[in-house]
Formats: sequence, C-alpha cells, structure tokens
Amino acid sequence: MAGAKKLFIKTYGCQMNVYDSERMAEAMGASGYVEASSPDDADMILLNTCHIREKAAEKVYSELGRFKPLKAAKPDLKIGVAGCVAQAEGEEIMRRQPMVDLVVGPQSYHRLPAMEARVRSGAKALDTDFPAEDKFDVLNTRPKARRGPTAFLTVQEGCDKFCAFCVVPYTRGAEVSRPATKVLAEARDLVERGVREITLLGQNVNAYHGDGPDGVWSLARLIRALAEIDGLDRIRFTTSHPNDMSDDLIAAHGDCEKLMPYLHLPVQSGSDRILKLMNRKHTAEAYLRLIERIRAARPDILISGDFIVGFPGETEADFNDTMALVESVRYGQCYSFKYSPRPGTPAAERDLVDPEQASDRLARLQALLTQQQREIQDAMVGRTVKVLFERAGRLPGQMAGKSDHLHAVHVAAPEVSAGDLCTVRITESAPNSLAGQLVAA
Ligand code: 5AD
Ligand code: SF4
Repeated sequence: MAGAKKLFIKTYGCQMNVYDSERMAEAMGASGYVEASSPDDADMILLNTCHIREKAAEKVYSELGRFKPLKAAKPDLKIGVAGCVAQAEGEEIMRRQPMVDLVVGPQSYHRLPAMEARVRSGAKALDTDFPAEDKFDVLNTRPKARRGPTAFLTVQEGCDKFCAFCVVPYTRGAEVSRPATKVLAEARDLVERGVREITLLGQNVNAYHGDGPDGVWSLARLIRALAEIDGLDRIRFTTSHPNDMSDDLIAAHGDCEKLMPYLHLPVQSGSDRILKLMNRKHTAEAYLRLIERIRAARPDILISGDFIVGFPGETEADFNDTMALVESVRYGQCYSFKYSPRPGTPAAERDLVDPEQASDRLARLQALLTQQQREIQDAMVGRTVKVLFERAGRLPGQMAGKSDHLHAVHVAAPEVSAGDLCTVRITESAPNSLAGQLVAA
C-alpha cells in the first residue's frame, strides 16, 4: 500500500493479549495502517501490556524510555499503551511518560481507530472505560486474509472469582461471555481462511455461558457445535477454574474427538490453608478428585497447571502439601511463579514470605515439575501421534508442529506444508520438544 502508515505492536503476557493485538492490527488496518517490521520504521508504536506479575508497570516505563530517541528523531511518531497496565495505571502513564499519546484499556480496543485520529491531530487520548457495546462487533470486520493453521478465539473475558492475589477481576473486569452465534461465525470465518485448530480463550473460559439460538450455552455445548464445522480438526480451550469444570465438559473430553487431550487446570497450591487464604473456594482433595474424574473420561489427557509459591502465610508444611499434590497429579506441563503483590488486591496487604525461602521453594517445585514434564514427554518415544504442522523448523527440510498433547514435534519432511495434519512416529525426546518420522498415511 503506497504511503501507508506503519504500526508496530509489542505484545506481553497471555494468549488473550496475542488475540487482542491481532484484532487491534486489523482495526488499524481499516485506518490505513500496515504492520511495521520494527519500532524503527513505525509511525505508531503500541505496547500491549500485562499486569499479572512482578514489576510489570516498571517494565513498561523502561520500554517506553527506550523509544525516546525514536520519538525525538521522528516527532510524528505516536506512542500508545494498551492492555492491563493501561487499565490499571490510566492517566498515571501519561503523567510519568509525557511522550505517550494514547492509553487504551482492553475493553475499549474498538475505539482505537477514533483515538488514533485524535492523536494525529495533536491531542492525547485516554480510554479505560468498560463500555456497554460489544467491542468484538466492531473489531471483527476484518479483511479475509489467509491465516496460519492455528488461531486463538476469545469467547469469554474477565473474572468474578477474586482470588486474593490476582489483578484480572480489576483489569479485565467482570465475567462476560460472547454470544455463541458470534463465536461460531468467527470460527467458520477462521476455517475458511485456512485455520484447522482453534484455541478458545477466556480468563475463566470454562465458566462460559453465552447466548445461543435456544438459550444459554455452556462451554461444552459450544465445543460440540464447533466440532460440527467441516475443516476444523482441533479444539482447545484455556484457562479453566476447577470449580467450573462441569459434568458436560468432562464428558466432552471423553466423547468429542476434536477436543484435544490437554487441559490447563491451575490449582495454585496444594495446601487447604493457603487455598483458603487465596480465596480459591476449593480444597486440594476436591481438585484431585476432579482430576480423577477427568482422567476416567479421557485416560491419556495431559494435565497442565499454574502454581504460586511464597503466598503470604505459606509455611514449609504448606509447601510440602503442594509438592505432594504435584506428585499425585503428575503434570505434563506447568507454570510456576513466586508470589508478587499486585496493588489493589487483598493479598497485597499481607506480610511477605522471606524472599530467599520463596526462591528456594520455587526452585524445588520447578525441579519436580520439570522432571514430571520430561518423563511424560519421554514416554511418547515409540508412539504414533498426529501432528499439525505450523512452520519450517530450524534445520533445512525440517518442519515443526504440535501433537494432540501439545508437544512440540520436529520432523525432517520437506514434502510437508504448514497446515498439514500428519501421522508421525516419535523417535526422540529433547528437553522441550520431540522429534519423529512421518508415517505413510
Ligand atoms: N503473583 C504470582 N503469580 C500470579 N499469578 C497471578 N497473579 C499472581 C501474583 N500476584 C499466576 C497464577 C495464574 C497465572 C496466570 O499467573 O498462577 O494462574
Ligand atoms: Fe485471577 Fe484466575 Fe483467580 Fe480469576 S480465577 S481471580 S483470573 S487467578
């Protein structure tokens, strides 16, 4: 596009931010923007920020500082901050970094083109509202460009759970589900554009309760309807809360072939005392029983999770309960974090665990989780799996993709293209990926 303006978006944090950045790029495309390959040749830079853990806001300020020389050299360059730090800090960002032109919270992305027009005229623009209109109605009027084989699709946003450590209920707001008919239309559109695997996103995705043509649909109902779409081969969803793991969703894991055998089900701690202080509203035992029921429905399901160590009040005994829970679940994949106080959350007022002790516990937990992940991955060697290829690998002639269980798989197969779903025999297990050979169909 001759004379098109260029937009550079840097995305931090979760998959929903990745999805949001794509939607913002499309919305700005309608305003004449094309993607810039680096901040240096951009007319607008947008930081899509994350506020979930440590020093997020500080990182944003230091990143902004790095753009100062760019802005000095190119006064027309516009700089914006989006995402959860934008929501949480609002005007403070413009006060601390006067070179920021625009601040936009996650619920106002559909207003970005209008805000861009305002900043082009030299004004500043700030929007951290929770508007009543459906932002997706505006954001999804996109060009029918071809896509890669995998895509995210936001179906639910926000959270009403108020875990004592978490900013999400404040930055993303109350739980809202998108209507099922709109989700289905977006999924069909993605499939027409080449997508074969869709990951449904929501901060509390299994609490999904969107309007369907015949009343309110659960996530399981939505998944079953999506599974009817020809050309869509794989469905995943993330992130789930144990208390919303309904019977119909568990059943879907057993009988819906397109629903992949992978479940991200964070528990955060294995100590009932800490779970209570975290306001998680479930016990360790209830979580373990739930995992048993899910495995009864789908025996080979790979369970992944999130853990926080060093939550205020955590003793060595509480931490040992977490280790015991991990031993009994056997996770295929996990994320674990040292607790960091988030301003405005209830736990931020409480006394911290000694930081060295917290680091030591995190190291012990991560050693166990890494060992489990490796054992489960190693056990794939010799098995035959389906791989959806996504891109060329690092070596010549190599292709890379993901198995049903979300393991990264590399295969020397120059004849394979991105988007091919092939049968592969696993021959090797490396620290973070598997290697295999194509099996003739
Ligand atoms: N400190 C550390 N980890 C946190 N998480 C959320 N809030 C905090 C916090 N204040 C972790 C949880 C959550 C994941 C997305 O991030 O484990 O599941
Ligand atoms: Fe945060 Fe998840 Fe708890 Fe909601 S359920 S408050 S998103 S940790």
